[in-house]
Amino acid sequence: MSIDKRLALIGGAGTMGTAVVRGLLQAEAVAPEQIVVTARHERSFEHLRQYHVRLTTDNIDAVQGADVILLCVHPDQVAGVVEEVKPSLVAEPLILSLATGIPTARIEALVGELAPVVRATPNLAAVVGASITVVCAGRLAEETHLELAEEIFGTVGEVERLDERHMNACTALVGCGPAFVFKCIEALAEGGVKMGLPRMASRRMAAQMMLGASSLVLITGEHPAALKDQVTTPGGCTIDGITKLEERGLPIALIEAVETSALKAAKLFDS
Ligand SMILES: NC(=O)c1ccc[n+]([C@@H]2O[C@H](COP(=O)([O-])OP(=O)(O)OC[C@H]3O[C@@H](n4cnc5c(N)ncnc54)[C@H](OP(=O)(O)O)[C@@H]3O)[C@@H](O)[C@H]2O)c1
Repeated sequence: MSIDKRLALIGGAGTMGTAVVRGLLQAEAVAPEQIVVTARHERSFEHLRQYHVRLTTDNIDAVQGADVILLCVHPDQVAGVVEEVKPSLVAEPLILSLATGIPTARIEALVGELAPVVRATPNLAAVVGASITVVCAGRLAEETHLELAEEIFGTVGEVERLDERHMNACTALVGCGPAFVFKCIEALAEGGVKMGLPRMASRRMAAQMMLGASSLVLITGEHPAALKDQVTTPGGCTIDGITKLEERGLPIALIEAVETSALKAAKLFDS
């Protein structure tokens, strides 16, 4: 096992926590005995029983002896959970927060600066091991803590390390981004249907085409504009479609979608 730590996933029975549990075990980065997962309700554990990790509704019990505490609850539940477990934090575990919009300084203040904090922004693709997760360090976190966070999230996809001042933009691009792409896939598939393609085939083709285009950007390292030129034969049919996208404002709509979500992310903690 490559991660020699005991992990407590508070709220880990949810979508993100489950994705991390699955990723860690499939990568054989940890053994099931190294993981404890909590939720509020026993019924939330059903899908996790196959993994043979420890399951409990007792957060205080879960953090006993944990080296890493992953906060997988919703942002508005973070304060309550940290206050609940704080008296049991004796060995300065790493607090690894997935909570959208909660700065590391806020968690450090809640925990009384008893533990280092690393913040992570994954996305829904973690469910299929294809997330891009951004990690950033709090004031007390050291290189080893960031490396540990990278190792954990490396089991559910790629990892990018950035300064915390970029986290709201990352929330928009990485966290919200899949929803923007789903809208694109849905619309492209509708375009296919409009032109008479069978519905299921059209959706599959739109999604696989998106995956292929993304792979080209990542694997070749070429600028998307250069790749676009390779598809766009002068006087051909692609330039007519591109002209329509420009005319209807797709590029600016996507830029403003990221900007608007990032500005909202910055306000989440204030509200
Ligand atoms: N989903 C995404 O695409 C995404 C992307 C980036 C970041 N995030 C962040 O990841 C975190 C988790 O999101 P999610 O989508 O996984 O949420 P989720 O599926 O709703 O799961 C939340 C889990 O927290 C548990 N929980 C709530 N209060 C608790 C408490 N006091 N003690 C123990 N467990 C508690 C819930 O248990 P019960 O089911 O028993 O109520 C549930 O299992 C959030 O902070 C979110 O901002 C999510």
